[in-house]
Amino acid sequence: MTRGERVQAGRHGSDWRNIFLDADGPIAVIVIDAPDKLNAMGRSFWREMREALAMLECDGRSRAVIITGAGERAFSAGGDIASFVDLDTTDAKREFQRDCMRTFAAVEECRLPVIAAVNGYAMGGGCELTLACDIVIAADTAVFGMPESAVGLVPGFGVLRAPSVIGRHWTKLMMFTGERVDADSALRIGLAQKVVPADQLMHAARVLAERIVAHAPLAIAAGKGLVNRGVDRGEFDHSTAALTALHGSHDAAEGISAFTEKRAPLFEGR
Ligand code: COA
Repeated sequence: MTRGERVQAGRHGSDWRNIFLDADGPIAVIVIDAPDKLNAMGRSFWREMREALAMLECDGRSRAVIITGAGERAFSAGGDIASFVDLDTTDAKREFQRDCMRTFAAVEECRLPVIAAVNGYAMGGGCELTLACDIVIAADTAVFGMPESAVGLVPGFGVLRAPSVIGRHWTKLMMFTGERVDADSALRIGLAQKVVPADQLMHAARVLAERIVAHAPLAIAAGKGLVNRGVDRGEFDHSTAALTALHGSHDAAEGISAFTEKRAPLFEGR
């Protein structure tokens, strides 16, 4: 099947523009599909991902989900920074942040196990998406980062979830400095559970998914729910409020302009 045909098959009559779905059997693959911009997540990505997960949960056939990125360079370089200029009101900034957080929650609350197969850069929202997934398998070429402070922001979900995965200090190092974490370091600090050669990533992810699918689905769903229990969705509101304010700051406007203009930002702390 060519990529074009897969995109059509994956759309199922919907208007998805950021992802396609390869769901031919019990193991479904959701591909983040904007390789020209390193699979940066466009405005409708968040809704599309929720729709895909909901569709897979209901189809009666899917037993595990793999999320990966199109091409060889990136899982995802995060939210599409160029599109942030369209968030021109406080309501729009708040709704955008809610939309992102709803999607991270949908991954965590999905009854199906979700594996991130990280095939390159997992930056910003891409790194956060791996934190929402249940298991992370990384290519040896993978690079993780949460560099949002370079554009005047913070990872709204990462600040909540990364501390319990990699600890507060690694979270702060990554968040404060934009420190990039390679595959071996990701394995060491718990951002990834397995690292494989890049050309074996999808095979290894499928083997892992097959091992899960061989087990009882009700038990997997119950186990996932129990491990993820106690998540305080009230924290999401605090994060959304903080991100809404940051998005409205002079520094975020400057950081976003600097990124799109390919220049260094000049931050003023306001
Ligand atoms: N949003 C929008 N476009 C993005 C993007 C993002 N998050 N990340 C990459 N792109 C685009 C670039 O603008 C570039 O587009 P162009 O070819 O039209 O100039 C293209 O993808 C390739 O990226 P480039 O920066 O040239 O690749 P690189 O190999 O030099 O660097 C990264 C790769 C991932 C280090 C770099 O792209 C980056 O830092 N991206 C932003 C990551 C980020 O801050 N994410 C959090 C967003 S809040």
